[in-house]
Amino acid sequence: MKTRIMLSFVILWSLALTATSAEPIHIRFSHVVSEQTPKGNAANRFKQLVEQKLAGKVTVEVFPRATLYDDDPVLLALARNDVQLAAPSLSKFSTITKSLEFYDLPFLFDDLAAVERFQNSATGQRQLDSLGDKGIKGLAYWRNGMRVISADRPLRAPTDARGLLFRIEPSEVIEEQYRQLGATTIRLPFAHVRDALGRGLVKGQENSWANIYSQNFDRWQPYITETNHSFQGYMVITGSAFWNGLPADIRRELEAILAQVTDEMNGVLAERIGEYRQGVIDRGKAQVITLTDQERNAWRQALAPVGEKFKSQIDPVVLAAIREANAGGK
Ligand code: LMR
Repeated sequence: MKTRIMLSFVILWSLALTATSAEPIHIRFSHVVSEQTPKGNAANRFKQLVEQKLAGKVTVEVFPRATLYDDDPVLLALARNDVQLAAPSLSKFSTITKSLEFYDLPFLFDDLAAVERFQNSATGQRQLDSLGDKGIKGLAYWRNGMRVISADRPLRAPTDARGLLFRIEPSEVIEEQYRQLGATTIRLPFAHVRDALGRGLVKGQENSWANIYSQNFDRWQPYITETNHSFQGYMVITGSAFWNGLPADIRRELEAILAQVTDEMNGVLAERIGEYRQGVIDRGKAQVITLTDQERNAWRQALAPVGEKFKSQIDPVVLAAIREANAGGK
C-alpha cells in the first residue's frame, strides 16, 4: 500500500515536471567506481553528449566513487527519484531479485565475447525489463570484464584459498563459490574494500582489472590469479516512473545517446582491459599468476558444485541462450 502511494506520488511528480519543462530536466547519475574506469568514463561521456545534444533541455550531474550513494541505497534512491540513473554491478541486484544471479556462476560464460552475444540476444535484452515490478527500468548493459582473484598469498590451486577471508559483492552465488573453496566471506560495499584490505581485515577479493587498477588493490594484494571465472558488468537503470514521465522526444534522444555511449565503451573494452592489467604489472607491486589449461580446469572442477546448486533456479530459456552464446564464437 505504502509502495503504491509512493509510486503514485512519483508518477504525479514526474508528470508535473514534464508539464512545466521550461526548466531543464536534471539527471543525477550515481555510481561507485573511479572516473578512470569503463563505467566512470561512460557516465562522463553520457553527460558530455547529453549536454551537447540536449543543451538547455537536460543537464546531467555525475557522482562517482559513492560520493552520493553506495550500490544498495542507490536502488531505494532511484525509487524515491533522488537519483535518476545508476549502473550497479549485476551482483548487487541480488538484494531485490534472483533473476540476474546466474551472472555470478563460475565458468558459466566462456569469455567476454560470449557475455556480449548473450546480452545482445533477445533473451538478454528482455531481461532489461525484469525489474519492472520494482519500479526499475533497465536501459543498457555496460561490461567491465571477467573477474580475477587477488590475495595476500599465491593462489595457484583452488586449495590455496582454504581458510582465507574474502571480501565479496552481496551475492549468494559468490558466497557459495568461496564456501566450496573452504574460505569465508564478508559482504562489503565497494567503497570500503580498500580500507579493509589496507588494514588486513580481509585477505582477498575478486574483481575486474579496471577496479583493481583504479583502486590500487595491488598495493595490499601481492598476488593476482587470472581465473577469469565469472563476469562483472552493469545494468544501467532508471526509475520507471521518471523515465515514462519524460517528454517522448527527450526520452528517445536519451536512449539514442545511451546506445551510442554503450557502443563506444564496449567497442574499446578489450583493449582497455589489457591496459589496466598492464598498468598493474608496471606498478610492480603484484605478481600476476597465469594459469595453465590444466590448472584452470582444477578451479573449474572445484567450483562445479556451485553450478549444480544454483542451475535449477535459473530460467531454462536463459540457460539455453547462454549455451548458444558460448557456442557462437566457435
Ligand atoms: C564491486 O563492488 O566490487 C563492484 O561491483 C564495483 C563496481 O561497480 O564495479
